[in-house]
Amino acid sequence: MPAAELDPSEIKKDFPIFDKPINGKRLVYLDSAATSQKPRQVVDAIVNYYYTFNANIHRGIYKISEQATEEYERSKEQVARFVNAGKGENIIYVRNTTEALNTVALTFGNKNVSEGDHILISDMEHHSNIVPWQLLAKRKSATLDFAPLKDNAFIDMSSYEKLLQNNPKIVALTHVSNVLGTINDIKKIASMAKKAGATVVVDGAQSVPHMPVDVSDIGCDFFAFSAHKMLGPSGIGVLYGKKELLETTEPLFGGGDMISSVRRSGSEWNEIPWKFEAGTPNIEGAIGLGAAIKYLEGIGMQRIRNHEKSITRYAMESISSIPGAEIYGPKLGMTSERGGVLSFGLNGVHPHDVSQIFDSEGIAIRAGHHCAMPLVTEVLRKGSVSRMSFYIYNDESDVDAAVSAIKKVKSIFHIT
Ligand SMILES: Cc1ncc(COP(=O)(O)O)c(C=O)c1O
Repeated sequence: MPAAELDPSEIKKDFPIFDKPINGKRLVYLDSAATSQKPRQVVDAIVNYYYTFNANIHRGIYKISEQATEEYERSKEQVARFVNAGKGENIIYVRNTTEALNTVALTFGNKNVSEGDHILISDMEHHSNIVPWQLLAKRKSATLDFAPLKDNAFIDMSSYEKLLQNNPKIVALTHVSNVLGTINDIKKIASMAKKAGATVVVDGAQSVPHMPVDVSDIGCDFFAFSAHKMLGPSGIGVLYGKKELLETTEPLFGGGDMISSVRRSGSEWNEIPWKFEAGTPNIEGAIGLGAAIKYLEGIGMQRIRNHEKSITRYAMESISSIPGAEIYGPKLGMTSERGGVLSFGLNGVHPHDVSQIFDSEGIAIRAGHHCAMPLVTEVLRKGSVSRMSFYIYNDESDVDAAVSAIKKVKSIFHIT
């Protein structure tokens, strides 16, 4: 094996969950797009915080509080470096991608979108990049436009250009689709949107865990992602914002830590990013996220991307040769434009039945609308689809297990 390839069987040793059989079988975890598994290093970092320096941050003038503060701030610097976001001041900790996108809509959006304005999203968005904009459009009597797709896989760029002629105030787009796997040409789209005068918001929930991401190079204004999809704990996510935008945007929540002074007559805000972090934050989450980034950097994001590309290609080759199986999103041969997400249908079998039979084999996949109902029901015209998604601990034997499970489904449902 060439040195640059990663070895999932070695990596798996860091993930205790794989030691425990599921339904008497080894766990084949193919649902990392929903949430990733956690390595010992991340869990240990959290436990170590609780056991050895648990204290609130930014307040105690004593040793363990100073240590907790240092670790919390260090994790922000790690995040900023990881996505090339400048300094930690551009990084706001929230609960998840959903909260990050809602925060932009409720702060920047409320201030800058007015009656008659347009907001542009696309037909491949997760609900968390649809509903906050629907709510904003409703509050402001603005219009929410959906860019259509071409070949049920890519943004239709000629329609996109036309929609940009409405000069949308906000353009929000997913970097990687959680259903189709499509990797959008986000840098090009961000640049087109900026030229049209829009503020660009990127949903990076499915990109940051899986490939090198450089928010400065993309040129977006806001960028959101979740720790739990990148080996980190749940309950902590990231909102990156350009400094000048964060500085001129009002905070969403008021309370402790986000102020520099409070008087009866009014308050003044703390500097960014603390202005946006009211109350005691998720300290152990930040520490866990820092440990996750260290782990990912130890492997290397380009190696992770290469690994997922190769396993996705292998899965597409294997599954496309099964009669009755249909793969959604970019076709085989387009794996450069596809992340490690593979949604599929099996002629006539409900995805929930597929998922249940997979489960009996110890294989975890996802079935449903994947929180992307407009895409699944209105574009693909399906009630639901099955989805496998890959990460660093998956290898070709996991794909082989999934292929056997598909054959089992076909035999149970008498599909030829
Ligand atoms: C593309 C995309 N955006 C946003 C989200 C929402 O992430 P979270 O539930 O962590 O807020 C997800 C989760 O699956 C996703 O796949």
